[in-house]
Amino acid sequence: MNDVRPAPATPGKGSRYLFMVLLGLVIGAAGTAYLMRMWLGKPDSYDHAVMQLMGTKNGHLNEALRANRCSASDALPALQTMRALANEIEPAFADLRDDARFVQHAGQLRARLDAAIATPPQDCAALKQTAARLKDACEACHRDFGH
Ligand code: HEC
Repeated sequence: MNDVRPAPATPGKGSRYLFMVLLGLVIGAAGTAYLMRMWLGKPDSYDHAVMQLMGTKNGHLNEALRANRCSASDALPALQTMRALANEIEPAFADLRDDARFVQHAGQLRARLDAAIATPPQDCAALKQTAARLKDACEACHRDFGH
């Protein structure tokens, strides 16, 4: 009859634990849904996907430059991938593809990539110049249309 154990505390802890588990499940489900929407379902996430890949490939060029890997065969794969991605700029940006300036910026990037692929950089000085010209084409569009 003289039980001094703090019995009431146990159910409190138990329900808090249950709450944390449920919270974890909800956060997990929300996170998964968010990622699925980003990468799979939502069609308007395609613009981000194209630009993120563009950024990644551009980063590879800059990494090659920093690592002194500046032969044509070092640069060409990234340049070709970026050229293919550049074809996707207008399809990806449904709300901008009828804007003449937007199309002009995209065309400028494609022209610079075409030139770089036709005459691939053979050394680091040339790759540096190529990277700067591409960066300039990216930024010209971002200045007008990016956030
Ligand atoms: C013709 C226009 C245009 C060109 C050219 C362009 N971009 Fe973009 N980029 C955009 C727009 C518009 C956004 C903003 C996207 C948004 O927030 O919906 C963007 C966003 C980005 C982002 C952020 C990605 C994200 O999740 O929103 C990166 C990274 C990026 N661009 C990289 C590049 C690189 C690298 C190049 C050049 C090799 C480039 N872009 C060329 C229009 C362009």
